Amino acid sequence: MKPAYQRTSLSCNPGSRCVEIAAPAKINLFLEVLGRRSDGYHELETVLTSVSLFDQLKICERDDDQIRLILKNSSALCETIPTDENNLVVKAVLALRKLIGVNRLPGCDILLYKRIPSEAGLGGASSDAVAALLAGKWLWNLDLAESDLLSLASELGSDVPYFVLGGTAMCRGRGERVEPLPTTGGLPVVIAKPTMGLSTAKVFSKVEIPREPRSASALMSDLAARRFELLGQHLFNRLTTPAIQLNPEIAKIAALLDKTTVLGHQMSGSGSSYFGIFRSLRAARQAAQLLSNRLPGATIYVTQTLGSRTSMQPVMLPI
Ligand code: C5P
Repeated sequence: MKPAYQRTSLSCNPGSRCVEIAAPAKINLFLEVLGRRSDGYHELETVLTSVSLFDQLKICERDDDQIRLILKNSSALCETIPTDENNLVVKAVLALRKLIGVNRLPGCDILLYKRIPSEAGLGGASSDAVAALLAGKWLWNLDLAESDLLSLASELGSDVPYFVLGGTAMCRGRGERVEPLPTTGGLPVVIAKPTMGLSTAKVFSKVEIPREPRSASALMSDLAARRFELLGQHLFNRLTTPAIQLNPEIAKIAALLDKTTVLGHQMSGSGSSYFGIFRSLRAARQAAQLLSNRLPGATIYVTQTLGSRTSMQPVMLPI
């Protein structure tokens, strides 16, 4: 079992001005696919909430105009992560520079410590991108309103705008239209990431569009009335069927969770991560132990849902 958060020291050049942020993962409590769009994307209705599994990102000013991304952990988590302008974090800083003016912002070193697995449906890369936007805003004291951040974020990816708001939210369109919802802060959630990840594009390409889409209204009522013990009964994810066709290990996790005291379980986003919601942290830890014993290739995390905006608070580090 992996600890969800343990702050790691991210050292950079002594004397440079730095800002550090913890970037949380998300899970999807509800995801319905309403149709295919002419731009190749799918029209969605999805409810997301942040959980206490964090990447750590630090931006440090440089004397020159270079932008360098340095991955600070050498684990298997980082093997497939690009460090050039194909990385969303680098794209985010380049987008800030374009907006503010290339000559008005100095270069920076971006140090990133990954804990959120990739190809997992947990939004790690998107969360890192928003952490980079916020860290840049703080470091360079930029006058950026939330609407500016949301429009920068929607150019970076479908679920990036969600992380500007954080907490619990309904996302529509291709995912970029975000409306805040009452938060679920503190719900225990066990996440299992199978050995094999899944490509979002591949999963979406296999989805069958429903004739009668499911409604999120039951889940929304639970949230509004703070009936969190009922949330587990109203989870839904349309992408589960195509994801299981591509990775049958997901069905194995679901069957194991059924043997625990789980309140409800489902896949997050386009997978391959699968999560269960529990009444207490004790119950969550017991279930996590069972999953660890029975799924040797999977990575298991015990987390809790986060309240709105508690997650992305930049810290200006002393020089
Ligand atoms: O926007 P993002 O880069 O995260 O999307 C990755 C891929 O997932 C898209 O290229 C598309 O194939 C698929 N996708 C989709 N409909 C969405 C979101 C993503 O088809 N609403």
